[in-house]
Order: sequence, then structure tokens, then C-alpha cells
Amino acid sequence: MFPKTYRKFILTKFGEDFRACTTIVDTPWQDPGDEEIVVRNIYAGVNGVYDFNMMRNAVAYISFEVPTDMGIEVVGRIVAVGRNVKKFKEGDAVATWKVGSGYRDYQVANVSRVYAVREASPEILTLIPTGVSGMVGLERVGEMASGQTIAVSAAAGGLGHIVVQIAKRAGNHVIGLAGSNDKCELVKKLGCDRVINYKTEDVDQVLKTEYPRGLDIAYDSVGGTTFDVLLDHLAIRGRIIISGYTSEVGKPLQMINAGRPWTKLYFKSASIRGFINPHFQEFWPDAAERLLSAYDNGGLTVIVDPTPFIGLEAVPEAVAYLMAGRNCGKIVIKLDH
Ligand SMILES: NC(=O)c1ccc[n+]([C@@H]2O[C@H](COP(=O)([O-])OP(=O)(O)OC[C@H]3O[C@@H](n4cnc5c(N)ncnc54)[C@H](OP(=O)(O)O)[C@@H]3O)[C@@H](O)[C@H]2O)c1
Repeated sequence: MFPKTYRKFILTKFGEDFRACTTIVDTPWQDPGDEEIVVRNIYAGVNGVYDFNMMRNAVAYISFEVPTDMGIEVVGRIVAVGRNVKKFKEGDAVATWKVGSGYRDYQVANVSRVYAVREASPEILTLIPTGVSGMVGLERVGEMASGQTIAVSAAAGGLGHIVVQIAKRAGNHVIGLAGSNDKCELVKKLGCDRVINYKTEDVDQVLKTEYPRGLDIAYDSVGGTTFDVLLDHLAIRGRIIISGYTSEVGKPLQMINAGRPWTKLYFKSASIRGFINPHFQEFWPDAAERLLSAYDNGGLTVIVDPTPFIGLEAVPEAVAYLMAGRNCGKIVIKLDH
């Protein structure tokens, strides 16, 4: 039978200390509406930057009121279905993706935002929604074709390791930037043509020497000086995709004393393109289907960081681990233990 209450992880106040701003509370069981299902959340994906920004009330496009529920993506199993739900049944493995639905033991989800998956394994969380963001960003924002030179920052990260493979599978020359030799080794194994450990090699020099024609696409989620150097090396008609700014999160805004953006773009017909996946929802189902099928056919290597994070109590630790840049691949929390 269903529990009368279950636990969820919430943000109680805005601030700068993640543990002090969050807690775990009991919440009453809710039956599904006609078009809804109830999912037992089994694994939750960790979007440390998003969580950290929520805590700081710095997700510019959403106005949160506290207390508010946290966590976005999960894989789980359906335990109850609404009257009109035909597409799913109890016991089905699913992936879901909605702000506030992730860090909790159960969730009520509208079927329009639910993806059927073969099994509720943590690996799926590298694809939905992380890989979907990478694919949509590369294809729709970066206008990726084949035969191009594409650089990817945080290439060993949850998002980056999938971006690298999508770019490679499309027939491109891929340069991966990562912050340790172990990460670089892993990115090399994923098929990167050139891996740069930005802590020991000078990225500017490498690009200058080895890629004088420049980058057709730079997929950047790190920001800061990584963004600067990638921007400097765009090819004619090159595009830099701003997919995040991890290195700048929680830090004072840096004032850069430089020429206006056009000075780096106009004479190359190059562009800077902002990308945030909620603005591209019409492309999600197709990208999810293609990624799941590539994974099922053995065409994608997906990496879940091996550090175990168990239960809702582990959320702050998992977020801190990501924010310290220690992860390789996607960080996942096991909820059903
Ligand atoms: N635009 C979108 O729609 C979208 C969707 C999903 C995620 N994102 C963004 O993409 C980024 C990656 O997300 P993710 O969850 O997959 O994280 P992640 O890449 O797995 O982890 C962050 C990585 O960033 C690198 N990094 C570079 N400078 C850092 C610094 N100063 N501090 C900490 N880490 C640093 C680290 O790798 P190295 O050691 O190799 O430097 C670290 O492992 C985040 O900014 C996230 O918000 C955007």
C-alpha cells in the first residue's frame, strides 16, 4: 500500500550556504489526477549549478518563492496511474524532468512530461535531460553539420561527455577541454581528436598553433577565461554556444575591460549564441528518442560518476562535489535504497 507521507528535499530560504538553506520534510501522499501518474523516484540526477543558483535566487528566468521543492530529473517506476492514462501502466520504468520533481521519494507527474525508458537505471540520467540539452544546443543553436571543428569545455562532465560524442558521431573533429589527466584520458577514450588539460597546457597556444583556421563551434558551459579564449578562436562564421558559466557561479560579476563584442565577431561573421534548454522544448522528444536509441544500440558511452550518493541526505554533499569540479560524468543520487 502507499505510504501516508513521504520525504522531499526543499529550499527553505535564499542564501549562500546550501546546507543552511535546505532541509528534508515529510509531505502527504497525493493520488494522481486523471492525466497523471505517481512515480517512485529511484535515481535523481544532480544539476549542482542549477541547485546552487536556486539557493542564491539567481535563476534569472524563474521567480522562486521559498519554501520550494528541489531537484529536476529522475528515473523511477510508476506506482499509480490516473483514469485517463493509456500510454503507461503500473510498473513501467520512466524518466521525468521538471523543476521540483527530482529530490523526493515520490512525485505526481503529468504524462506529457514523462519518457518511457527500458529500465530505471542511473545511466539514463546522462541522456535525459542532460544529453538532450547537449544535442539541442549543438544542432539547433550551433547549427552543427559535419566536417567541422568543435571545441567542448568541461568535456568530462555530465553534459560535456555526451556533447563530445554527439559532435563526434556527426563526423566532426572534436577538441575536449578538461581539468585533470584522468579526465583527459577519459575524454580521449570517448573519441576526442585532441584533448587539452587546461591546467597544464595553454589553451590559447594550442589553438593558435594547431587550429589556425579556428573553431566552427565552441560549446562552452564553463565561462570565465575559458569563454574568453574560445571566443578569440572562432573561425569565419564560427559560433560560440553559451550553455553555462560554471566557473563564475557564486562569484562577483567580473568587469572585463575590452572592446565591444562586435570587435571579435564582425570581421569573421561569427556569433555568440545563448542557449538554455527551456526555450527549445519542441526539440526535446526527438532528441530524447535519438539519444536513447543510440545508447540502446551501443553507440554512446555514458558515464555516471562512481562516487556513491545515497538518499536525500546526500544532496548537499553531491552538489558540493560538483561545484568543486571533482566529478567525471553525471552525478546521480540513489533514492530507493
Ligand atoms: N544550457 C542548458 O540548457 C544547460 C543544460 C544542462 C546543464 N547546463 C550547464 O552546463 C554546465 C555543466 O553542467 P553539469 O551538471 O554537466 O556539470 P559538470 O560539467 O558535470 O560539472 C562541472 C564541471 O565544470 C568544470 N569546471 C570548470 N571550471 C570550474 C570551476 N571553477 N568550478 C567547478 N567546476 C569547474 C569541471 O570540470 P573540469 O575539471 O574538467 O574543469 C567540473 O567537473 C553547468 O553550468 C550547467 O548549469 C546548461
